[in-house]
Amino acid sequence: MAENRERLAVVTGGIGGLGTEICRHLARSGRRVVAADLDLQPERVDSFRQSLAEFNGQIRFEPLNVADFDDCAEFAQRVQQHHGAVDILVNAAGITRDTTLRKMDANHWNDVMRVNLDGVFNLSRQFVDGMCDRNFGRIVNISSVNGQTGQFGQTNYSAAKAGMHGFTMALAREVARKGVTVNSVSPGYCKTAMVMQIAEPIRNEIIAKIPVGRLGEPSDIARVVDFLSAEDAGFITGANVPVNGGYFMD
Ligand code: CAA
Repeated sequence: MAENRERLAVVTGGIGGLGTEICRHLARSGRRVVAADLDLQPERVDSFRQSLAEFNGQIRFEPLNVADFDDCAEFAQRVQQHHGAVDILVNAAGITRDTTLRKMDANHWNDVMRVNLDGVFNLSRQFVDGMCDRNFGRIVNISSVNGQTGQFGQTNYSAAKAGMHGFTMALAREVARKGVTVNSVSPGYCKTAMVMQIAEPIRNEIIAKIPVGRLGEPSDIARVVDFLSAEDAGFITGANVPVNGGYFMD
C-alpha cells in the first residue's frame, strides 16, 4: 500500500472558502494536492497561490469548470499526465442562487444543479475507474446541512445538496468491493464568503440557532475531509458526516 505522502488529491472548488482549507489539511497530511477551480478571475488565483506559498508546490492550481463534462474529461487527462493517478477526490465546488421558488427562474435552478450536482457526476466519472483498478480511492462530497433540513430561499441548493448524498450512497455501494469509499460531509454555517453574503439580520438569526454559538471555521470541515480520506478509513463508506455545531441533529 502506498504511503500517505504518495497520494494525489483533487479538490474542486479548491480556491473557495472551504476548498482552500481542505487543500491545506490534505497537504499537511502528506498528500500532493491539485486545487481545481474556475480561472476567470486571475487575481483570485494569484492570491490563492500566494496564500499557499509555504507548501512549496505541494498544492498546484489547475483550471476547471465542473459543470462541463468535456472540460472534466480534459482536466482528468491533464492531471494524470502531469501529476499521476488520482487517489482522493473532494467535490467541494458549490454555488448559491438564493431566492424563493416564486421568484426563481430557470437559470437560478440550472446554474446550481449544473455546478453542485452535475459537477459531482462529471468529475467522479473521470476518476472512479482508475481508483477501482488500483483498489484504492477516497471520494468526499461536500454537501450541506441545508440538504438535510431544507432552507428558506434554497429549493435549488437544498435539492442539489440532498441529491449529492443520494449519489454518495449509491456510488458507495457500487465501488465498496474495490477499496474505494464514498462519503459526504454536511457543513453547517461556516465563515466563508458564501455565508457572509447572507443579509446580516438573517445571518444573525441563523447564528442564534447554532447551539455552539458560533459559525464554523473552514478547518472544522477540512479536518473531517482529511479523516475520511485517510489510508485507514476504509470501513467508513456511504456515510454523511454532519459538522454543523449542533444546528441540526437527526
Ligand atoms: N423563514 C420564514 N419566512 C421568511 C424567511 C424565513 N427564513 N425569510 C423571509 N421570510 C418571509 C419574509 O419576511 C417575507 O414575508 P412577507 O411576504 O410576509 O413580507 C416572505 O418570507 C418572502 O420574502 P421575500 O420573497 O421577500 O424574500 P427575500 O427576498 O426577502 O429573501 C432570501 C429571500 C434572499 C432567500 C432570504 O430569505 C435569505 O437570504 N435567506 C437565507 C438563505 C440562506 O440561508 N442561504 C444560505 C447560504 S450559505 C450556504 O448555503 C452554505 C451552506 O451550505 C450552509
